[in-house]
Amino acid sequence: MRQLVYISTGSPDLTEDDVADILATSQRKNPERGLTGFLIYNGRNFLQLLEGDAAAIEILMEDLRGDKRHNGLVRIEDVPIDVRRFSDWTMRRLELSTDVEERRAQLTEWLPDGFDEKVLRTVLNFASLN
Ligand SMILES: Cc1cc2nc3c(=O)[nH]c(=O)nc-3n(C[C@H](O)[C@H](O)[C@H](O)COP(=O)(O)O)c2cc1C
Repeated sequence: MRQLVYISTGSPDLTEDDVADILATSQRKNPERGLTGFLIYNGRNFLQLLEGDAAAIEILMEDLRGDKRHNGLVRIEDVPIDVRRFSDWTMRRLELSTDVEERRAQLTEWLPDGFDEKVLRTVLNFASLN
């Protein structure tokens, strides 16, 4: 299995309803694809962590590349894993506080122990941006 993190930029006309639709679709489709993970949207950019079989991730990445609700997708992490860290999360949205200081505490609380150090640092860095 792999754990992949990408960031992208939401389309300029993206609404909260669009983000809710993305979550609903993800939660419906990910179980059959064997994918789990989380999604952060800060009003401008997405960060998504996906874990599952490499093939299933690549099929979704193809869909994502054609999805007009975001663009400028860049993979920032792609590491092999033996154990799923987010097995209960078909796709959970992590809603970060508007208070930048508080975000680190939120993520430390939400993200599981044993989560890859480098990937964790990437997520924390993203969360510290406005
Ligand atoms: C930021 C973002 C994250 C997404 N994450 C997922 C996901 O985890 N799983 C998924 O099936 N679709 C996800 N989608 C939606 C896919 O791009 C695509 O629209 C969907 O898989 C197609 O489903 P459908 O063929 O049932 O309409 C995401 C879209 C965006 C913009």
